[in-house]
Amino acid sequence: MEAFSSRILLTIFAFSFITHSIQANERPYQQSNTLFIRNSCSSTTYPRLCYTSLVKHADFIQTNQMLLTGTALNVTLASAKSTSALMSTLSKGQQLNPREAAAMKDCVEVLSDSVDELRRSIDEMSRLRTSNFEITMSDVQTWVSAALTDQNTCTDGFQEINATENVKTLVRGSIVQVAQLTSNALALINKLATSHG
Ligand SMILES: *[C@@H]1O[C@H](CO)[C@@H](O)[C@H](O)[C@H]1NC(C)=O
Ligand SMILES: *[C@@H]1O[C@H](CO)[C@@H](O)[C@H](O)[C@H]1NC(C)=O
Repeated sequence: MEAFSSRILLTIFAFSFITHSIQANERPYQQSNTLFIRNSCSSTTYPRLCYTSLVKHADFIQTNQMLLTGTALNVTLASAKSTSALMSTLSKGQQLNPREAAAMKDCVEVLSDSVDELRRSIDEMSRLRTSNFEITMSDVQTWVSAALTDQNTCTDGFQEINATENVKTLVRGSIVQVAQLTSNALALINKLATSHG
């Protein structure tokens, strides 16, 4: 029995050793890809969120600033869509007083605008060429800034009506991630915009 379990242990050990060696072999270029993401993210406001949201796409991004920025926008759009859906669900809840319900309705509207603005900026990015670089980047900056403003408008709306702490916490908690992702995407866009010429 003891010999048996030590053989299992040995097998597990050998297996993890092999797995580890394979990972170690893959390291050099993977490491440069993740390092590129880490460095690029270091100039954003929320570097840790930036890194964790992009590192899963490291193989795709490699060390390409355009792909990095495009991926950041796509990740942000996905988050904006799910936040928008979540707020829409919350707005149908019964626990809101009339002012809160009105603020929630406004919030659902501005979040839907922010989804459209992010979609538009992704669409613009796909048309980015050397010949239209400045005007396209400027449009993308405008759309993404607008998306960020809309997300902040939602949170501010609840502040202004003195919503109950529970509601404010719930809203802030739902919006915070997408607002941070949007802020990060904007920083990466600004960086890309100044990288040219
Ligand atoms: C972002 O999403 C759009 C639409 O799905 C896609 O066409 C584009 O290739 C994506 N960009 C990146 C960098 O992943
Ligand atoms: C919110 O609270 C502040 C301070 O308590 C008060 O001055 C203000 O009138 C309130 N606003 C609303 C819309 O109730």
